[in-house]
Amino acid sequence: MLIAHSIPELRAALVGRRPAFVPTMGNLHEGHLSLVHQARPLGDTTVVSIFVNRLQFLPHEDFDSYPRTWDADCAKLQAAGCDVLFAPRENDLYPEPQTFKVHPDPQLADLLEGQFRPGFFIGVATVVMKLFSCVFGASGGGTAVFGRKDYQQLMVIRQMVRQFALPIDVVAGDTSRAPDGLALSSRNGYLSLQERAEAVALSQALQQLSDRWAAAHAAGTLQAANLEHQALDQLRARGWLPDYLTVRRRADLQPATALDAPGTLVALGAARLGATRLIDNREF
Ligand code: PAF
Repeated sequence: MLIAHSIPELRAALVGRRPAFVPTMGNLHEGHLSLVHQARPLGDTTVVSIFVNRLQFLPHEDFDSYPRTWDADCAKLQAAGCDVLFAPRENDLYPEPQTFKVHPDPQLADLLEGQFRPGFFIGVATVVMKLFSCVFGASGGGTAVFGRKDYQQLMVIRQMVRQFALPIDVVAGDTSRAPDGLALSSRNGYLSLQERAEAVALSQALQQLSDRWAAAHAAGTLQAANLEHQALDQLRARGWLPDYLTVRRRADLQPATALDAPGTLVALGAARLGATRLIDNREF
């Protein structure tokens, strides 16, 4: 596995190649590695980036304490068959303040995660655009794999690629889950033992919300706001601080109504358990 820290090193390694690319912030777990396995047959060179992107963290968020596990990450990527690891230092990616930014469509990016983490998707879109330029600049295009766990992020990236006509196929990877159903996330590492046992309640709440929604839709008795309030209250009663638990249309993440049939919907949630904020979603 070649490790490139600078953009010229990376570009030199990728001339004439067709990369299949998985961007990450490191602290790799099985979820990331399943994206790497998914990426491998989609190009002739599998590229993974590790970069903790300051631009997508709010001042009070965990940029400084975000887990950095370089040696373990390298060993995992080597074993997973990654060909090129791009690990820019902050100075390589942002040699001068990144004042030129990508602003996603507020209709998509200012709701849900964007409502509770203002500017988050500007930071994500800006770094992903830059990573795409680094990885695909020498090859003229390829494939990038993003996890469905970050559902809204995937939609923002797809829209960016489409509207800028970037020569990149964006492929979605399924969410990897622990045996109890908890979606794998680097932030799960922040949970105490007791919190870890409780953490699955978020995915259960989304499952229950989507089941109730589908049943009420079939019975013609759907009261969207009631179902969402019920789900929020149940999570609060267990000691969580939810930001949102909601059913949206998969097409544009706008609130679903009785006119939207199950099969076109997604239940999304974000909630804080102690000091840890978790997100998850279920399509139905
Ligand atoms: O999903 C992530 O890990 C990050 O948001 C990404 C896409 C690597 C951009 O920093």
